[in-house]
Amino acid sequence: MRVLVLTGAGVSAESGIPTFRGRDGYWRNLDPAKLATPEAFARDPKLVWEWYRERRQRIRNAQPNAAHEAIAKLAQCADELLLVTQNVDDLHERAGLAKGEMVQIHGDIFVTKCSRCDFKQHDSRFSVAPATYGAASEQQEGRENGVPRCTKCNALMRPGVVWFGEPLPARETQRIENYLQRDSCGVVIVAGTTATFGYIIDWALRASHRGGELIEVNPEETPLSRFATRLVREPAAVALPRLIDPLL
Ligand code: OAD
Repeated sequence: MRVLVLTGAGVSAESGIPTFRGRDGYWRNLDPAKLATPEAFARDPKLVWEWYRERRQRIRNAQPNAAHEAIAKLAQCADELLLVTQNVDDLHERAGLAKGEMVQIHGDIFVTKCSRCDFKQHDSRFSVAPATYGAASEQQEGRENGVPRCTKCNALMRPGVVWFGEPLPARETQRIENYLQRDSCGVVIVAGTTATFGYIIDWALRASHRGGELIEVNPEETPLSRFATRLVREPAAVALPRLIDPLL
């Protein structure tokens, strides 16, 4: 059985990570234009870094839930599986999914990359939050006012995520294209996303276009619902283990 799984913030909600557009979602209280665009970073990199550090800390304190674990189990049993997640957290990986079986299409919050050259590094989730650093250690760490600088070209470093108005990472989209072009999928699961971005619906429909099951797991209706062959209006950590166990 060939499987495609597409996930969004709803899958990490039960691990204590806020969604974006849900009741206590980030975008309900914060303005994405002030935090998740290249212009916002140019205007106030300190504010942007403070927000991403707060999110990193929340993710460090979180644990994968039964939804992440069920998907990792399915990956071990399916003939072929690709997980495409919009989530920048590392909960799918911590649940045991191999990097080769997943695509983080909106980037990885624990990656820090130069805003000018190609330098980037992975800040392990164990690395201590800079709030505890004094001015001196900031100096040592090439930080200024909480904003890290590139050790290669001294430009500002930014979180390794995709911001509004930015293209998706080419290497990652190519991996999805390769997977979709190789063959269709018997099962497509779309969980915890408002499917706001057209490419999520496009990938789901293309993967299931030869009669595969298209299962939406979401307590609420989304633009994808009308295409689904099965709707599961329940939280992912409840629905996915029950949905996946019979497939194992
Ligand atoms: P959203 O916040 O837009 O949507 C979360 C979805 O999850 C909603 O449809 C909820 O109904 C559903 N949901 C909430 N709790 C759930 C649960 N326990 N189980 C299952 N579903 C649940 O988040 P995304 O669709 O992931 O992008 O947002 C997509 C992108 O928009 C994000 O990656 C981010 C955001 O702006 C960028 O920043 C580029």
